[in-house]
Amino acid sequence: MKLVTQLLAFFTLLIAAAPAALANPSPAFEGRKLYISHCMICHGMDGKGYGPLAKKMKIEPEDLTDYVPTMSDYGLKVIITGDKNVPKSLRSRHGKISKDMPKWKEVLNQSQISALIAYLRFLSTTKHDLPGDPELGYELYQRYCSICHGVEGIGDGALTNLIGVIPIDLTNPKKADDFSNSTLAKDILEGKGDYMPGWKGILTNEEVDALVSYIRLLYQVWAHLEDGGLVVVMRSPTLENDKDRTTALLRDTSCNSKANLSAKGKAEAIKVGKLFKSRGINIQQVISSPHCLAKETAMAAFGQAEAVEYLASNVKLPSDKAESFASQLDTRIGSYEGKGNLVVFTHESIIKDLSFQKLKDGYFLVIKPMGKNEYEEIGVYKMNR
Ligand code: HEC
Ligand code: HEC
Repeated sequence: MKLVTQLLAFFTLLIAAAPAALANPSPAFEGRKLYISHCMICHGMDGKGYGPLAKKMKIEPEDLTDYVPTMSDYGLKVIITGDKNVPKSLRSRHGKISKDMPKWKEVLNQSQISALIAYLRFLSTTKHDLPGDPELGYELYQRYCSICHGVEGIGDGALTNLIGVIPIDLTNPKKADDFSNSTLAKDILEGKGDYMPGWKGILTNEEVDALVSYIRLLYQVWAHLEDGGLVVVMRSPTLENDKDRTTALLRDTSCNSKANLSAKGKAEAIKVGKLFKSRGINIQQVISSPHCLAKETAMAAFGQAEAVEYLASNVKLPSDKAESFASQLDTRIGSYEGKGNLVVFTHESIIKDLSFQKLKDGYFLVIKPMGKNEYEEIGVYKMNR
């Protein structure tokens, strides 16, 4: 208890100074809220179909955790919106969807439906329920835990250097998924080892459940990447362009010499590749801007890089050319169908057109292809380096 009190004094100081800069939390956050307010009454808290209203219906809903993995996002969208033109192949076991399943078209917008689907996918892959409200968990986490576990949960909080310990990486599904909800709750309440404080008396059981739920959603992006079929967008490290400008000028723009990527940049890139590898993420293909630095960073990280013209910086391009490159990239991402993931190395000016979010150093963008030239952003995440 003494440790906690001492640390809390620390926190108040440090937290006042720390910017709350969590990368976009997974859409499953929003989806859970919608699920509870709109779907739970029939489909049940865990999606298995035992909601309080289910027994009143002639046709009881199927177990969504079995059903959802067999369906594409498009199919789910059609069923949830209640679109009239449900293709035969998408109809459920009854040949058509019963009237008991409401049509949500007028109630929910596109992004809410996507969030719901993200949450349904979470429900069908997770071994663990969400026992509490992850939004509350997020707030509590930032207040009490990020100081050690890091704003993003990867274990790089400000206090870790001071006390010289590295907490577990909460964003790693291989680690956190092994703990049951009750083990996590117990460890949070009672503490662990010399430096993980116990929060009994500070946090209520409800707050601990909220934290457990937040932790469950934290590692979703990595779990998705393990499943493959996604597009990961990265850029070369900034230090190569900014702070290193003098040496950058000396670099060989023909890409023939080996002096383009600095030793530090190369070491960082290798770490990135190792991180993906250590998590068992399958990288099927890497495409990069023809710019030497992007290509070399990609090579150092993943050992492969196919240079494609449409990933070149568009800053100095005539607008028709820039538009043509942008549409080629949209198609490449939207129609990606590989089993593993596609990695795209490009420049900030290109990324700005793909996402409203800015990719800071060490951040990457995860995108889900939706066919043709359409795709959805899953989120922006920070690399554990
Ligand atoms: C009033 C009860 C009710 C509510 C509320 C409800 N559903 Fe359903 N839902 C059903 C029933 C009943 C079925 C089964 C329809 C059938 O198979 O003909 C169903 C079917 C489904 C299916 C297809 C799987 C199956 O059982 O055939 C999905 C996916 C689905 N619902 C998602 C949702 C989502 C997402 C929400 C919230 C936005 C929601 N439902 C809200 C009653 C409901
Ligand atoms: C003072 C630093 C510190 C703070 C603050 C802190 N933790 Fe930890 N946490 C650690 C360390 C260090 C470990 C690794 C403990 C070990 O295995 O020895 C850890 C481990 C954990 C684990 C893994 C437990 C296990 O069984 O291995 C969870 C879950 C966890 N912390 C959650 C939290 C939550 C939630 C909060 C905020 C309420 C929090 N921590 C606050 C340092 C901290």
